[in-house]
Amino acid sequence: MDLSEILKSGLKAIESANDETALKSAEREFLGKEGLLMAELKNLKNLPDEEKRVKGPELNQAKITLETTLKNRLQAIELQAINQKLENDWVDPTLPGDTFTKGHTHPLYQIQEEVEQIFQEMGFRIIDGPEVETEFYNFESLNVPAHHPARDMQDTFFIDAPADPEEGRLVLRTQTSPNQVRAMREYGVPLRMIVPGRVFRNEATDASHEHTFDQVEGFLVDKDISIAHLKGVMEEFLMRLFKKPTRVRFRPGYFPFVEPGMELDMSCPFCNEQGCRVCKKTGWIEFMGCGMVHPHVLKSGGVNPEEYQGWAFGFGLTRLVMMRTGINDIRYLSGGDLRIYEQF
Ligand code: PHE
Repeated sequence: MDLSEILKSGLKAIESANDETALKSAEREFLGKEGLLMAELKNLKNLPDEEKRVKGPELNQAKITLETTLKNRLQAIELQAINQKLENDWVDPTLPGDTFTKGHTHPLYQIQEEVEQIFQEMGFRIIDGPEVETEFYNFESLNVPAHHPARDMQDTFFIDAPADPEEGRLVLRTQTSPNQVRAMREYGVPLRMIVPGRVFRNEATDASHEHTFDQVEGFLVDKDISIAHLKGVMEEFLMRLFKKPTRVRFRPGYFPFVEPGMELDMSCPFCNEQGCRVCKKTGWIEFMGCGMVHPHVLKSGGVNPEEYQGWAFGFGLTRLVMMRTGINDIRYLSGGDLRIYEQF
């Protein structure tokens, strides 16, 4: 075939190829090893010198022309594919975007953070302790021996594991108080700390009782410490928490790990002591158990009761949250109903 014929039909085949497969076959036919142009090149050596000189460059030029055209055509085909895809994937940027809801902290932990912040500002450290405790820390170290009737005040859940000869069975802690002893053993005295945390009791559940709830333990041990310091700290704490002056009063109360033991009431911040639903028309709210740390507990923590004394308190964080938020059934707090949490 004449070279100009080859070039012409080659260009035509390339130009009319509509996809990569058609282009590949055109490439094979004209530029491939077995292709038409290659045949001419192979034949070149059989020609007389004179013709070689003319035909050589002609063939070379034809090859370059075909290759360039092929390259351009390939680019055009690829571009076309991209455009096609863009057209199919077309989005309307004026449509409103997908919305997603942003979560927030559970009301319980919002208030826990506030409580931590206030005590931290008063020089208390925040301490964490294990939720699975030993009988020793949860009871014995706190002056509640195995036979003691006070054990019935806090019925608990036992872990199905062999008892430790020294520390007894594993239990879900019924109170944050075991950390009084843990902290004295770990950090020594003087000590000023609070322990917020989850506690567990074997209870029948109703609107104000749950098997799982949260407490905040407070603990201060130093020299020359009295109930006056506790009164001062609590008045300051409650004032910062409720953002208004709050009074406190003590009543006798029994807890084996304090002596004397007391209950602390606070003046109702919701009705300014006029009497309301929260304070049951009394103007006062039972807030927490407290007292001077029992010598037995100081000894459990390796502290000499002749030298040091202190006080401890424990209040229900869950109850505080219910009071502040007005959530009147404890089960709502862990029920997972977002309509409740979204209000806070
Ligand atoms: N641990 C007690 C309870 O859970 C509360 C408390 C703590 C009382 C510290 C006195 C001192 O009921």
